[in-house]
Amino acid sequence: MSKFRPFPEAQEHGEITEVFPDIHFVTGTAAMAGRLPMRFSRNMTIIRQDGRLTLVNTVRLSEDGLTALDALGDVEHVIRLAGFHGMDDPFYQSRYGARVWSVDAPYLPGFGEGSEPYLEPDIVLDDRTELPVKDARLVLFKSATPGEGLLLLDREGGIVVSGDCLQNWAKTDRYFSLPARILMPMMGFIKAHNVGPGWRKVAKPDTAEIKGVLDLDFAHVLPAHGAPVIGNAKDRFTPAINGL
Ligand SMILES: [Fe+2]
Repeated sequence: MSKFRPFPEAQEHGEITEVFPDIHFVTGTAAMAGRLPMRFSRNMTIIRQDGRLTLVNTVRLSEDGLTALDALGDVEHVIRLAGFHGMDDPFYQSRYGARVWSVDAPYLPGFGEGSEPYLEPDIVLDDRTELPVKDARLVLFKSATPGEGLLLLDREGGIVVSGDCLQNWAKTDRYFSLPARILMPMMGFIKAHNVGPGWRKVAKPDTAEIKGVLDLDFAHVLPAHGAPVIGNAKDRFTPAINGL
């Protein structure tokens, strides 16, 4: 247990798969509090460097999943790119002594009006932060509240790790509950190469700042929601971004 609140339990998730050399990806479950059982998928990206791991968009894994994670290396860092994510960061901080690097966004439960934060990050990310990952830089959406960012890796033609901004749910998957299967398509979430509709509505980023994504050099996107986009990612996201 953290000093703030009990850690959320591990929920259903898949296998950790290697998507690029030293970059792994795993899909798990996000469950929203409320009267309807709204559950859908979310992803964690794992970056390995010299036997040490940085977890981006953390998802708490089962004991078997943690055994597989431990086989990859030692967890040393957690990077939180999305102000609406982070519920499992305290678990990894506590279990591994991981250093928590977060966008400028309080750790509030749910969508958190008036609640106490459940974690204080070790480092709040800004443009000058020297990241624990080589060939990496941050792109922060300064107009969004809470904070949000992208991690851009200068490898393989450019790999973007995204939080809620760039999503790729072409279809619902096995982690979606029935209400989520029905409601989320109607709410615009189930669309390939999408800009997160919930994020835009609540965090209210400036459209011009989102369009700036098209000035970046990248070929792949590893999103927090939906499948990895491998190859031609900028072209694939261009219609959604230009259509804002
Ligand atoms: Fe999300």
